Amino acid sequence: MNAAARTRRERTLARNFARRFARESQGLAKAPGRVNLIGEHTDYNEGFVLPVAIDRTVIAAFASRSDRQVRVYSLEFDEEDSFALDDIERLEGDVWSNYVRGVAAVLQKAGYGLTGVDMAIQGDVPIGAGLASSAALEVAVLGAFQHAAELAIDPRDQALLAQRAENEFVGVSCGVMDQMAAVMGRRDHALLIDCRSLETEAVPLNLAAHGLKIVVAHTGVRRALSDSAYNQRRQECSRAVQVLANVIVAGPVGALRDITSKDLSAQQGSLPAPLARRARHVVGENERVLETVEALRRGDLTTIGRLLYASHQSLRRDYEVSSPELDLMVQLACRLEGVVGARMTGAGFGGCTVNLIRQEAIDSFREQVIETYRSRTSLPAEMYVCEAVDGLRIIAEANARASHSPQD
Ligand code: GLA
Repeated sequence: MNAAARTRRERTLARNFARRFARESQGLAKAPGRVNLIGEHTDYNEGFVLPVAIDRTVIAAFASRSDRQVRVYSLEFDEEDSFALDDIERLEGDVWSNYVRGVAAVLQKAGYGLTGVDMAIQGDVPIGAGLASSAALEVAVLGAFQHAAELAIDPRDQALLAQRAENEFVGVSCGVMDQMAAVMGRRDHALLIDCRSLETEAVPLNLAAHGLKIVVAHTGVRRALSDSAYNQRRQECSRAVQVLANVIVAGPVGALRDITSKDLSAQQGSLPAPLARRARHVVGENERVLETVEALRRGDLTTIGRLLYASHQSLRRDYEVSSPELDLMVQLACRLEGVVGARMTGAGFGGCTVNLIRQEAIDSFREQVIETYRSRTSLPAEMYVCEAVDGLRIIAEANARASHSPQD
C-alpha cells in the first residue's frame, strides 16, 4: 500500500489529523454507505435484503495511544470529543460522537481489549438520506479501534457489534442490513444477505455490460430514524408473528420470514388491519428479493424493473412508509425512457429513491426528474450516480506497520 495511491480526500484527512494531534496517523479505516436495491423492512423480520455498498464513505484516520484516552475530531462538524475508555457515558442528544463512544463501549463489553486512540473523521455519505451514514460511521470507527489495538474480529461480528452500538448505546433499533453492507459490500456486486443466518452472497450487477447506472435521487427531505414510525412497524410485525404462530400449523413461525404468500392469504382473516397489510409487505418483499437475484443472474431487466416498482407500491400501500415526495420522485422516474426501475430506499419517511437507469438517460433524468421535482416541490433535490464498492478497508500509512482487514 503506498501513499501515492491515496485520493485527495484521504490525503487531506491525514493532513488534518497531523495538524490536529501534532503526530502522524497510522492508517485510515474507510467504510461505505449503502443503497438498498430491494428488500426493505425485511432485515428485522429475519428475511432477505440486497444492498449495494456505494462510493460515498466515512473515513477515520487513526493512531493508537499508550494510554486509555480517546480523542476524536469530526471535520464536518468541526468538533472534538474526548473520553476515557474506562468511563464511557452517552452524551445528551443526537450527537455524532455517541456513535464513536458506543462502538468503544460495545467492543469492550464484548471482551475486546482496546487501546487509547486519536482519530479524525470525515464523511461524504449524506446524513439523514436513508443511505446508512450512521452504519458507515460505526464501521469506520470500529475498524479504527480494531486496528489500533491489533485485534482480529470476524466480519459478521464487526457488523453485529456496530449494530449493537446503535441499538444499545445510541438507542436506535435498526436491523443489521446497513452494517453488513458497510463491512462486506463488494465492488460491482450487490450483497444478498440472509438476515437470519447472516450468510451472504455477492451477486454480480454487470452494470457496465448492460450499459446501466445506479442513480440515487434525494428528495431533499431528511428523515430521522429515531423519530419515525420505524419502531412502530417493528412492533406491528412482532404482533403479526404472535397471531400467525397460533394459526399456522405447517411449521414453527419465529418471524415473518417463516411465512409464504400462500400461508398468508389463507390466514389473512386472522390478522387485524393494519397487521395484515404489514405482513403482506414483508412476505411479498422477501419473495421479491429472491426473484430479483434470479433476474440479475439472467440479466432480465424487465423483471428487475417490475420488482422494484412492486416493492415501492407495497411500501406505499401496505407498509405505509413512503411519502408524497418519494412517490413523486418514483412517478417522474417511471415516465422516463431509459429508466429500468425505481423505488424508495432505506427506512422511508423521506430520504432517497434508488433508480436503475440506462447510462444515456442520465442527463434526461437530471432534467426531467430532478428539475421537474424541484420546480413542483421547491425542495433541494439532488442525484448521485453511484458505483458499487468494497466494504470496510484499512489503508495503512506507508511508513506505519501494515495492518489489514480480513478481506484485504
Ligand atoms: C434502516 C435500518 C435498516 C433497515 C431499513 C429498512 O435503514 O437501519 O436496518 O431496517 O431501515 O429496510
